[in-house]
Amino acid sequence: MTIDHKGPASRVGEDIHVDLAGRMTYGDYLQLDTLLAAQRPLSDKHDEHLFIIIHQVQELWLNLVAHELEAAMACIRRDELPPAFKSLARVGRIQEQLIRAWDVLSTMTPADYLEFRGELGQASGFQSFQYRLVEFRLGAKDARMLLPHRHKPDIHARLEKALREPSLYDEALILLKRRGYPVPQEVVSRDFSEPHRFSEAVRDIWLSIYRTTNEHFDLYELAEELVDLEDWFQQWRFRHLKTVERIIGLKRGTGGSAGVGYLKTALDRSFFPELWDVRTML
Ligand code: HEM
Repeated sequence: MTIDHKGPASRVGEDIHVDLAGRMTYGDYLQLDTLLAAQRPLSDKHDEHLFIIIHQVQELWLNLVAHELEAAMACIRRDELPPAFKSLARVGRIQEQLIRAWDVLSTMTPADYLEFRGELGQASGFQSFQYRLVEFRLGAKDARMLLPHRHKPDIHARLEKALREPSLYDEALILLKRRGYPVPQEVVSRDFSEPHRFSEAVRDIWLSIYRTTNEHFDLYELAEELVDLEDWFQQWRFRHLKTVERIIGLKRGTGGSAGVGYLKTALDRSFFPELWDVRTML
């Protein structure tokens, strides 16, 4: 018996809708008029279009990352780990896209960029509120990062809320406590607007989970998904740094920082320090 995979043919104008006046269309649903009117270069230089689109694409992905992290955190709070893993896996796939995007931007040379860099004024990715939202959700809490958003009360309020709430890692540690692990009280009820500090007691709990993975497979899986996430986040930071270095060298950033020197400092910051230390202790 042969199986016909083709199925019945469809014809434009017969089955496929072409009479769309007054109906919901692809462009209406996605608001493409708005989306595609948002690329407004300030110069007539060819590469500014690329520069704008790369940033906009990354902001769209960051929007979805924030959405998925919130979903994962809500699932962990409800002790529902499988759907949390689904969201975290999706975040990982998005991070792969974000990392690959640097390859496209790397086709812009220093000379191409210098042609329109002056148009940016003080604008810088440093002011990306969605990036900060994601960092706060992952645990990189730093109240100073609210300062560039004081002139936008709605964004400031959103960021401040995320600063004060438990991060994804805090939720994971609160889950460990609920499951009866000896997580110190000061780790799970603290001022969440401060970053989590390395705790040997927490490291030892993860160590016991890694030593007997079959007994706590879901927690082991959670730990490994978190490590994936941090690993990819650091790869993004590294690719950003190298792209910046190849395009502007050691010049200062438009946001006012030392540039590459500033970006390097972020590579030493860890969201989930105990999960990295476990590797040495095993
Ligand atoms: C020609 C391309 C780029 C250059 C030269 C560049 C340069 C810089 C520099 C120098 C900084 C440090 C802050 C400052 O003083 O401005 C920075 C920060 C940042 N940039 Fe870029 N950038 C580029 C592309 C991008 C793209 C495509 C994104 C994607 C959204 C991005 C997102 C960020 C973020 C989120 C920060 C803050 C990092 C942190 O605070 O740890 N950048 N960038």
